Amino acid sequence: MELLKNKILNDGHALGKDILKVDSFLNHQLDIRLFEAMGEEFARRFKDVEVTKILTIETSGIAIAAVAAKYFDYCPVVFGKKNASLNLDKDIYTSEVYSFTKQQTYQIMVSKKYLNPEDKVLIIDDFLANGKAVEALEEIVKQSGAQLMGVGIAIEKGFQNGGKEIRASGIRLESLAIVDEMYEDGTIIFRD
Ligand code: G4P
Ligand code: NA
Ligand code: NA
Repeated sequence: MELLKNKILNDGHALGKDILKVDSFLNHQLDIRLFEAMGEEFARRFKDVEVTKILTIETSGIAIAAVAAKYFDYCPVVFGKKNASLNLDKDIYTSEVYSFTKQQTYQIMVSKKYLNPEDKVLIIDDFLANGKAVEALEEIVKQSGAQLMGVGIAIEKGFQNGGKEIRASGIRLESLAIVDEMYEDGTIIFRD
């Protein structure tokens, strides 16, 4: 998606070879016009697919998923919670995420009220790196008996394994920008 790639080139910063900072439009300050264009693009790419619910994860996935829902007939957006506020509730799906960045495992939770076997689910998130967050969301979809229709990602880091693994598992994955290489001097190379 050219608009997103240009935004990354103009306003993003490669922090070394591994981390792409996009705080000014995606992770801290939010560019809603860009989010609307991303939502439209997700809808275009998944237009042959029925979606009744979008599933994402705290924190940064929520805004992207919420705006994208406008282009999926205003379907509900459900997000995996990282905080323990649902812990006492027995009617939850839970799954574990290992964060390479934080080098620790945490639980995510979704109430059983908000995902059921009739749902056709699109997972949306801001970044795809090692794919552990998406994997945990897939696990929650599986527990619910809902059907996973695909995964939509704003920025995939093509040099980490998440994208490769999701595609290999047969799940449809659409990433709006795939960064294949970053260099210490700030150069960012996209996949075509
Ligand atoms: P993964 O296995 O789920 O792919 O992610 P990993 O543990 O490697 O990364 C942890 C968090 O950092 C995730 O956000 C992920 O989206 C984000 N992240 C990974 N690589 C980058 C990057 O290059 N740039 C930026 N800006 N973010 C990156 P999270 O834990 O879900 O946190 P939140 O920010 O959504 O709350
Ligand atoms: Na995220
Ligand atoms: Na993030």
